[in-house]
Amino acid sequence: MSINIPRGTQDILPGEVELWQMIEEKARELCEKYQYQEIRTPIFEHTDLFSRGVGDTTDIVQKEMYTFEDKGGRSITLRPEGTASTVRAFVEKKMFGLPGQPIKLYYMGPMFRYERPQSGRFRQFVQFGVEALGSNDPAIDAEVISLAMNLYKEMGLSKLKLIINSLGDKDSRNAHREALINHFKPRIGEFCSDCQNRLEKNPLRILDCKQDRDHELMQTAPSIIDYLNEESKAYFGKVQQYLTQLDIEFEVDPNLVRGLDYYNHTAFEIMSNAEGFGAITTLCGGGRYNGLVEEIGGPETPGIGFALSIERFIAALKAEGIEMEINQGIDCYLAALGEEAKDYTVGLLQQLRLAGFSAERDYLNRKIKAQFKAADRLQARYVAVLGDDELKNNKINVKNMETGEQVEVELNSLVNYFQGLKA
Ligand code: HAM
Repeated sequence: MSINIPRGTQDILPGEVELWQMIEEKARELCEKYQYQEIRTPIFEHTDLFSRGVGDTTDIVQKEMYTFEDKGGRSITLRPEGTASTVRAFVEKKMFGLPGQPIKLYYMGPMFRYERPQSGRFRQFVQFGVEALGSNDPAIDAEVISLAMNLYKEMGLSKLKLIINSLGDKDSRNAHREALINHFKPRIGEFCSDCQNRLEKNPLRILDCKQDRDHELMQTAPSIIDYLNEESKAYFGKVQQYLTQLDIEFEVDPNLVRGLDYYNHTAFEIMSNAEGFGAITTLCGGGRYNGLVEEIGGPETPGIGFALSIERFIAALKAEGIEMEINQGIDCYLAALGEEAKDYTVGLLQQLRLAGFSAERDYLNRKIKAQFKAADRLQARYVAVLGDDELKNNKINVKNMETGEQVEVELNSLVNYFQGLKA
């Protein structure tokens, strides 16, 4: 019996992987321009990091984590997201003491959530994310948002919608929390058991409950926007001013609460407007998380970031009908006729490759005609044909596959010949 791939995971095969590589390259390129540096953290962490960081009343922590006990009896979790790990590393490696604040980091790698798989939702998915730690300037909120928007735009996406909200500072959140408790308490019996638990612990989470989404009290729930104090309002105003200055269109959505507990002030999501994108339209999510560094044991440090998955990025490209031109073709295919010539191409191939050319030869003992077919399949720009006779005379025949033109080249100067073509 054959063994299949686990539910909610994907194999990314050649032909498709090139698009992944292009997005990854573009993301790295943009991070270089914006001055974010890469951080690589482990794929698993102590479970406590996520219950404390992401929040133990969130769906992620309550229902979606891949948690197991290792052979040493420790509770370990495959990372469901990258912010908690980045902050853990920031604290543990004392990056708050480094020169060059704020510390601006990015990461790219697999995340794991035990969710019900559907289009755009996987159990293993790859996030690209950035985190800027150590600045309370609303200009960096705008910078982080613009990085995400520009990445999408540079890959050709245009049907994008940015929604933003402010979750305010601690005081604003506390005032809103009270209002939410008062709103839901009298009828909390009509809600799911999770929401009943959330009421006192974290009533904001009720707002993104998937089960009770359609309850009438959801529509009339007090909105955080009405509870923002002056400072929080001013901060949010500045973020909007900078976004406008950067020509980034946005909509304020007072219902945007995000599914993780660490947020305050700015929260945002980027959605795809493309027709036929499917039910899940969020491409990217992020926000400010002042207080998280302290929660993980570090000094008071503000932070903001976002994460997006490459899977949904690709789905959006497909929905908008954007096709990337993938740079294909190889420089040279070495075709050989005769045993000695075949042996010789083993070394010649290596010479070409080490000199910087993409090159291939036959490994299936094919006839010369089939070798030309293989060269065609690889879109070889040149085919160099070596027979036993040419070998004796130190010659090789080079055919330009575009023009059909053929030249005879000294065998031991084949590499020079190709270098001359490139120059
Ligand atoms: P999040 O909203 O949970 O936020 O996830 C961010 C993005 O990851 C989503 O917008 C989506 O593109 C992708 N994503 C999440 N779950 C899945 C899934 N099951 N399948 C495919 N893609 C998925 C965070 O993870 C925060 N750490 C973002 C952040 C960084 N906030 C501040 N800094």
